[in-house]
Amino acid sequence: MYAHSQMTRGIAAARRCQRTNSTTNSGRSARLNSSVKCAAGPSYKELLAVAEEAARAGAAIVQDAVDKPRNISSKSTSTDLVTETDLASEAAILAVLRKHFPTHAILGEEGGVTGDTNSEYLWCVDPLDGTTNFAHGYPSFAVLVACCKHATPVASTVVEFGGGPGTWVQRVYSASRNGGATMNGTPISVSGTRELVQSLVTTGFGYDHDAAWMANMGLFQTFTDVTRGVRRLGSAGVDMCHVACGLTEAYWEPKLKPWDQAAGVLVVEEAGGTVTTMDGRAFSVFDPSVLVSNTHLHQQLLDIIEPVTTDLVVNKGADLTPFKVGTVGGHDRSDFLTRAPRLARPPGTRIQRPHRGTARVEKFVTTVTPCIRSLRLCFIIVITARTSAWRYPPHSPRGRLRRRCT
Ligand code: IPD
Ligand code: CA
Ligand code: CA
Repeated sequence: MYAHSQMTRGIAAARRCQRTNSTTNSGRSARLNSSVKCAAGPSYKELLAVAEEAARAGAAIVQDAVDKPRNISSKSTSTDLVTETDLASEAAILAVLRKHFPTHAILGEEGGVTGDTNSEYLWCVDPLDGTTNFAHGYPSFAVLVACCKHATPVASTVVEFGGGPGTWVQRVYSASRNGGATMNGTPISVSGTRELVQSLVTTGFGYDHDAAWMANMGLFQTFTDVTRGVRRLGSAGVDMCHVACGLTEAYWEPKLKPWDQAAGVLVVEEAGGTVTTMDGRAFSVFDPSVLVSNTHLHQQLLDIIEPVTTDLVVNKGADLTPFKVGTVGGHDRSDFLTRAPRLARPPGTRIQRPHRGTARVEKFVTTVTPCIRSLRLCFIIVITARTSAWRYPPHSPRGRLRRRCT
């Protein structure tokens, strides 16, 4: 149990920190912070190990149930489904989290807030993301587990179920802040696509058929026109991981909950992608709208999505204010948002983080492009002067230009 071994690990971590601090410069120490915390808290890697264990425990329940008859009921609307598997998976995940971190707060989709609501850690758990697909035996669905420090995801795991009846396969995506993202243990990164017209994108629709749902129908149409296609898969977590591993270029949805997105957004960011709200602000897991992309297309996507989202809030009265943790389970945790500084970027910033390794390519392209343009212009002038000779008398300005160039 984490609580029992915490002191020993804390001392070991402190010793490691002392050793490394004496031999490292400040640039490298930022990187070390991501794997070893000098304070008594667990490192992001330790949190990730627990996220993986918990997500695999939930996935084992889902795997066991996937080809069996299901007991389905509905929640907020007749199409908002819940099965015994959602509940059993959440119980299995929470058992693992409580075993390791009995004092951390947990926000589970089915059970609401439990644990110490004063903890600086909040685990967001979606025990079965894509319940409708699961209920029909239709791919894809997933188990999502994320650990947030204050409002920022620092470790997360997504177990995706693909394939179909009798041939289900699992893909395990994991990420820790500043530690990169992997799929089945192999590092992943977003696609390099820079043109919308060459992109494949996904979106999702909530269970309320309200103004946001309607506006997103419009976006579906618009993007069908300017991309290679828009898909609606049915699992927000899987949609995000597909952006992270380069299968698709972007995903957005206007009304999600923290448990739908906390795990996936970290995988995307750590794979070199960009995450903002649909109106282009810095993202918190409590924000209902999200736009994730391969970074290169983020601004082009925002150019279309941002005005629609702003119109939705300003003129159509849509409520896109942050989710209040206090509204779940009767615990007032709304201060979670404001009490502690976010670990991520400051609010209100537009994010254009180039993927690691692409910065040099981008610099090269920026330098070379003007040269190519100038050469092309010279080429056009010469060709024009040559081919238009017969049209211009030798002493006309064009005729003189032709003589100079030939
Ligand atoms: C849903 C899925 C779906 C998204 C919905 C979510 P659930 O989660 O992620 O793709 O469009 O907004 O509510 O209910 O299957 O856990
Ligand atoms: Ca969900
Ligand atoms: Ca769910």
